[in-house]
Amino acid sequence: MNLNMPQPEETAREKEISEKNFSPRDYVETYYPSDVDVEKLLPILEKVSKIDSNIVDISKIAEEEGIDPEDLENLFILDFQRKLGEKIIEDHPEKDAKVLDVGGGPTIYQHLEIFQNIESITHTDILPENLEEVDMWVNDNPEAHNWDSYFMLTGANSENIGEMKKELRSKIKTTTCNALEPNLGLENPERFDAISEVFCLDAAVGTDEAKRRNISLSDTVGNIGNSLEEGGYFSMVAIRNADWYKVGDKKVPVHNTNEDEIENALKSNGFEILEQRTLIGSDKEKDGYDGVILCLAKKLG
Ligand SMILES: C[S@@+](CC[C@H](N)C(=O)[O-])C[C@H]1O[C@@H](n2cnc3c(N)ncnc32)[C@H](O)[C@@H]1O
Repeated sequence: MNLNMPQPEETAREKEISEKNFSPRDYVETYYPSDVDVEKLLPILEKVSKIDSNIVDISKIAEEEGIDPEDLENLFILDFQRKLGEKIIEDHPEKDAKVLDVGGGPTIYQHLEIFQNIESITHTDILPENLEEVDMWVNDNPEAHNWDSYFMLTGANSENIGEMKKELRSKIKTTTCNALEPNLGLENPERFDAISEVFCLDAAVGTDEAKRRNISLSDTVGNIGNSLEEGGYFSMVAIRNADWYKVGDKKVPVHNTNEDEIENALKSNGFEILEQRTLIGSDKEKDGYDGVILCLAKKLG
């Protein structure tokens, strides 16, 4: 491309923000490419695990380390899920905890730091196509997205990766849910020992259905609380100050949230916040958000 030429205006298709723009395949390829450079990322993940600041400028670290900010974001999420895994095993040393992942989408990386510490993961989403993607991986379908690099980032090596994949496959169950419903729309409502959600509640509250029914982020946090045991952990990750996020070259709507709203939603629904961190420095113009908020909370008894 000749960079001196005037750049074309954003096309109408790229401008349109629509829920219909979510494609499971485009989503995983946009955010979780199979071919990440594990050798390069492993020592950076080690450094990430030692950072204890609540506000972290990822654009600065990504530049210093020479990696994509999206890869760095994923390392912070893996590190965050590791902390959730540690909390769960502290309270359930028998490894009998039942975990629910709400709006898990077509991805399984969010389970990698947890599955060895627990009995089962109920992976849910409103879109059956997302669950089909996960089921393809669970059934070892050759067409499934390849998550091996993410296993390698979280303790696997060429010797044990087969066993690790087998263990995770045996622990995942998929089922539909709706985060907007008081019982999360689960076919068999029950209480879980821990619940995780990564980029789901903000997506759910950004939908037309949520707007039509006037459902707030706080309402959805209340719905999570209804399905969580007292003393159970909830890990919540959201993009900050965003109206949309990208899936491939298309835009999907999201509820515009920030640290204050999330803190209020958690506290007003009976959660104690154990840890809250914001990753700043995202490219809002390009990606739609200016940061990522990660919160680990405990449901008070
Ligand atoms: C940005 S994706 C996040 C996917 C995955 N958790 C991750 O870590 O990348 C948002 C997910 O929320 C799901 N979603 C949107 N509205 C929902 C709702 N009301 N209930 C459950 N899931 C919902 C979407 O289908 C999508 O899979």
